[in-house]
Amino acid sequence: MAPSLLLLLLLLLLISSSSLPAPRRTFLLNSADRPLLHFSPPDVHNTSTLLLSEDTSTLYVGAGDALLSLDVSQTDVIRLKKKVEWRPSDSQINECKYKVRNPTVDCPNLVSVLQPINSTHLYACGSHAFSPHDAFIHTESFSLVEHGDGKARLRCPHSPFRRSTAITHDGELFTATTTDFKGAKPQISRHFSKDGRPDVCQESSASLLQDPEFISSSLDLSERKLYFFFSEVGKEFRFIDELQIARVAQVCKDDVGGLRTLQKKWTSFAKASLICQSPKQLPFNVLQDVFTLPPPEGKNASETLFYGVFTSQWSSGPESAVCAFKLQDIRDVFSGSYLTLNTQTMTWAPRQERRILGQCGLETASDQDLGDVRKSFLTGEGVKPVKNTPLVVSPDQRYSRVVAERVKVVNGKEYTVLFLLTESGFLHKVVLFDGGEQLVEEIQIFTEPQLVKSMVLSSAKGVLYVGTSEGVTAVPVARCSIYSTCSQCILARDPQCGWSRSSRVCKSPTDPHQDIAQDVDHANVSDECQGQTRTITVKEVFVELNEAVRLSCQKPSNLASLTWTSFKDLPQNLFIQPADGSLRFLASPHTFGAYRCEAVDGGYREVVASYDVRQMVSPRSLNVIKSDCQDQDPLTEDPTKTMTRPSGDPETPTMMVHHDFKTDSDHEDKSTVQTSFTDHGSGFTDHGPSSRNRGSSANTTPGRDPQSDALIVKSYHSELVVVSLLMTVFFCALVLGGLHMWRQSKSRKMNPLVSPDDGSKTNQSMESVPSLSSPEDTSPELKVVQ
Ligand SMILES: *[C@@H]1O[C@H](CO)[C@@H](O)[C@H](O)[C@H]1NC(C)=O
Ligand SMILES: *[C@@H]1O[C@H](CO)[C@@H](O)[C@H](O)[C@H]1NC(C)=O
Ligand SMILES: *[C@@H]1O[C@H](CO)[C@@H](O)[C@H](O)[C@H]1NC(C)=O
Ligand SMILES: *[C@@H]1O[C@H](CO)[C@@H](O)[C@H](O)[C@H]1NC(C)=O
Repeated sequence: MAPSLLLLLLLLLLISSSSLPAPRRTFLLNSADRPLLHFSPPDVHNTSTLLLSEDTSTLYVGAGDALLSLDVSQTDVIRLKKKVEWRPSDSQINECKYKVRNPTVDCPNLVSVLQPINSTHLYACGSHAFSPHDAFIHTESFSLVEHGDGKARLRCPHSPFRRSTAITHDGELFTATTTDFKGAKPQISRHFSKDGRPDVCQESSASLLQDPEFISSSLDLSERKLYFFFSEVGKEFRFIDELQIARVAQVCKDDVGGLRTLQKKWTSFAKASLICQSPKQLPFNVLQDVFTLPPPEGKNASETLFYGVFTSQWSSGPESAVCAFKLQDIRDVFSGSYLTLNTQTMTWAPRQERRILGQCGLETASDQDLGDVRKSFLTGEGVKPVKNTPLVVSPDQRYSRVVAERVKVVNGKEYTVLFLLTESGFLHKVVLFDGGEQLVEEIQIFTEPQLVKSMVLSSAKGVLYVGTSEGVTAVPVARCSIYSTCSQCILARDPQCGWSRSSRVCKSPTDPHQDIAQDVDHANVSDECQGQTRTITVKEVFVELNEAVRLSCQKPSNLASLTWTSFKDLPQNLFIQPADGSLRFLASPHTFGAYRCEAVDGGYREVVASYDVRQMVSPRSLNVIKSDCQDQDPLTEDPTKTMTRPSGDPETPTMMVHHDFKTDSDHEDKSTVQTSFTDHGSGFTDHGPSSRNRGSSANTTPGRDPQSDALIVKSYHSELVVVSLLMTVFFCALVLGGLHMWRQSKSRKMNPLVSPDDGSKTNQSMESVPSLSSPEDTSPELKVVQ
């Protein structure tokens, strides 16, 4: 019992240790901090294919019933250059209506192939009312000429919901698609073959592929081979029905077929399994996407990497993984051992080595050799991933698309950055380094689940284009200015961002001579950020007695935890700390004073916000205080600090009356301070961090921050005299009761704010108000501090 429990714990440890950490930053759709560029005119939908021109100034888009050419030469705007409609005719749609279940989604022409075919033309193929059509498009005039050789059904699928893949080289087109109405007949073929050689396809009699879903393709020019990535039913495992297997298949680019056997059929077709599995776990066996990352400049082509997104057939939740495969490993598998299919029993058996399998140049091979090729096309070994294990495992995200790029940092080291699109509409930026990976940020791209989606990256522009049902969204790969401090810039571990010591900003390190601090491997803030500490301006906040005060504090990252400290020894039940990180309380002589919000992130402590809450003395509140309660806040006795409202006539106060005030006793936001206040947002005076970086000198004008409207003082006692009186009585009692304690703590001096490194010293004189929400505590309800 005990050992098995131990094993289980160990297994759980294994799972959690390889899982992706939570994203450091989250940006919801159209967040002002991480702006995106949208191109979504109402007449463009189902953006299924994206193709970036070589000079990266034009983005060609294959969509529903249309092809578009977009000018993306500017970074701040996407402009429509040309649009060509490409719709099935009415009669074609009528014909389609009889064949399909849902004509409105099945019968439009969904463009699934868009490739450059030569220097002047693009090639496109679309489902076209369940009757595939293809066309050439002149790139300059963007005029479309339908192509009429009747072979379009071999080049793209009938159904807009089927996936296929295509790649062009030297005017030749290579496709992998299903070729019939039902999507049951797969075919890998070459079209527009050059130099008089015949078009080549697969032998249809043999069961070379089993209900495949084609995902991606790649060209290995140095070996003159093409690779196709797909999932299919693995017939070699007879013990499980419909077991899905991720595969890579190869054909030789220049294959022309055999002389008698395999005429005009591939003599070089072979397939191998792709293995993506954590130790002691069920495999990730269904392929979702593959991205080809060329080797670093000057490196051998065999260093090419294929990043694959995998899901598992057995997952109950949204789970996925990323595995990388090296071209050299794929080559080794195809030049290794093969299995032979017994066509009678449909079982596979290991075969004796015959070194012709998987090779190019078999056009003149003997019939016997080609007979071997027909039966032995599955490799004995599968392709193992780099590091023998998934690079990324997400237990709670179903990734659907991946794009990768290499980024060189200031010290010359290279990192791989992955952009992963989740089913739920977020883009995850993941940095891979030797010791693991970091989820730098997540950015919401769309809100509704998308059936068609595509991504294309322009490293030169630093922009990722995402195609969805609604159009095209341009996402800058990084926005370093979201990190306002050196520590946040370093802790992000984003190779595309570094801290400029001289200009004290987080920026993209484009100029190698800049004094850029960067430490992607270790994120050692104390090393990198010496002397770069930000001084936080103490924000003075003037409030009236009994006013509900809200001091805001924003977590610098999702992984940070916040702590509020006050220089007074205050009972914690005077405060409410909602999950948004703010601190709420009622203004009273007790609660006037200094407050500081600190964040602990990646082991580093940093002051995020600092406030000095003071009483604003307006004629009315003075009256209340004088008539009913002689104990005044000593602060207000300082004549320089005694102030009246700057704007407005004392006779007709300009104070806003808070009509929403209720004494709603069963409201969730009820505090333990007897008086309950409802959280209608407007009920609290929001002293936001938006003004925290502004000079403190500007804040000497009491009541209203001249540069910010964040400070809106509201009073309700004029409308609610009874409540005010009750409160006053209550606070008098409170003040008298707590005065003793308060005077004691008053004698202690507030230390000046210091750098995060010696923050612990300050803490000795600061009372920690409450423990704040931990990173995972994101529940929307307010937390009543005990
Ligand atoms: C490119 O291909 C198109 C379509 O086959 C053809 O009309 C055109 O002449 C070709 N252009 C060049 C430069 O080969
Ligand atoms: C690349 O590597 C392969 C095997 O690893 C080798 O055979 C080939 O000669 C290399 N090519 C170049 C250009 O270095
Ligand atoms: C095209 O987009 C519409 C919504 O805009 C969606 O209902 C439909 O399913 C999409 N078609 C495909 C093939 O994804
Ligand atoms: C940062 O680097 C310094 C010296 O290089 C080292 O003493 C310290 O332990 C490092 N801190 C972390 C968190 O790695």
